[in-house]
Amino acid sequence: MAQWIQGTVVDNIHWTENLFSLKIDAIVDSFSAGQFTSLALDIDGKRVARPYSYLSSPDQLPLEFFFYTATDGVLSNALVRLQAGDPVWVKQKANGFFVLNEIPEAEELWMLGTGTGVAPFFSILNTDEPWQRFKTIVLVHAVRTEADLRYQEMIARLQNNYGERFSFQAFVSRESVPGTITGRIPAAIENGSLEHSVGRKMRVDKSHFMLCGNPDMVKDSVDILKSRGFTKNRRRTPGHITVENYW
Ligand SMILES: Cc1cc2nc3c(=O)[nH]c(=O)nc-3n(C[C@H](O)[C@H](O)[C@H](O)COP(=O)(O)OP(=O)(O)OC[C@H]3O[C@@H](n4cnc5c(N)ncnc54)[C@H](O)[C@@H]3O)c2cc1C
Ligand SMILES: NC(=O)c1ccc[n+]([C@@H]2O[C@H](COP(=O)([O-])OP(=O)(O)OC[C@H]3O[C@@H](n4cnc5c(N)ncnc54)[C@H](OP(=O)(O)O)[C@@H]3O)[C@@H](O)[C@H]2O)c1
Repeated sequence: MAQWIQGTVVDNIHWTENLFSLKIDAIVDSFSAGQFTSLALDIDGKRVARPYSYLSSPDQLPLEFFFYTATDGVLSNALVRLQAGDPVWVKQKANGFFVLNEIPEAEELWMLGTGTGVAPFFSILNTDEPWQRFKTIVLVHAVRTEADLRYQEMIARLQNNYGERFSFQAFVSRESVPGTITGRIPAAIENGSLEHSVGRKMRVDKSHFMLCGNPDMVKDSVDILKSRGFTKNRRRTPGHITVENYW
């Protein structure tokens, strides 16, 4: 059984009332960018654990994670109160198949995430591998409000480092914000406004899609992509669509 490592909180960044990031010092086993581990706290004598994607890259310390406090959520509402110096349990061994190793050859990678579902994309984008494997990468982050759009300086650095090979498109669903698409990802795939906005065409012979976060976004997007001829990526039958559902 995988072991729990006692980590120490280095920083708790409160972005908004219910959006935060934890930086944690812990010596864990090496992992692949895109994987998740478990974090846990002992609450009322019980160890409460949930899976969380690494936002930090494999060679980075401290470890970093990006969270929403779920309404009435037990663990996220305890994690948000942690302060520098507090202990937190981290699973020694990471898990998951939302990694580039599982993705067949393609020219263009589309990374589509809602809310904190962008975390594994940052972990991947800050390694060399995607830039060695794909000609172009499009990162899409869909959130409710402009205040939920975080890690913009990391995105600016990627744009600076990779120029035209990297595109970023934000969606804000509950406000009208210049430079972003108002609404949801599936509708914008269906009506072509996402491709129009980033200036790239999704093509069966060259595109691969990674989708992460809200399971309804994942399902609705997969249905639309399938109707355009893209297929789910499975080990036995490689395809175009690789997914990670957060709940
Ligand atoms: C593979 C994997 C990776 C994950 N990585 C992350 C991550 O990096 N960051 C993160 O914040 N969460 C992540 N989650 C979700 C996380 O594991 C917990 O479910 C979440 O923190 C809520 O836990 P809770 O105990 O507070 O609430 P619970 O009582 O367990 O959940 C309450 C409800 O909140 C909703 N919910 C859960 N997670 C989210 C979320 N991220 N955004 C919006 N609504 C949500 C769901 O409707 C859920 O039923 C991941 C889940 C999986 C399966
Ligand atoms: N972010 C906030 O301001 C806020 C406020 C109070 C509580 N919370 C708590 O935080 C949790 C996480 O919030 P969140 O904003 O990350 O989660 P979210 O509800 O997953 O929203 C993230 C983005 O995904 C979109 N989305 C939702 N369903 C979709 C679907 N079927 N297809 C495509 N896109 C879809 C949302 O659009 P829509 O806006 O159109 O749904 C939004 O743009 C909530 O579940 C709640 O418990 C958040």
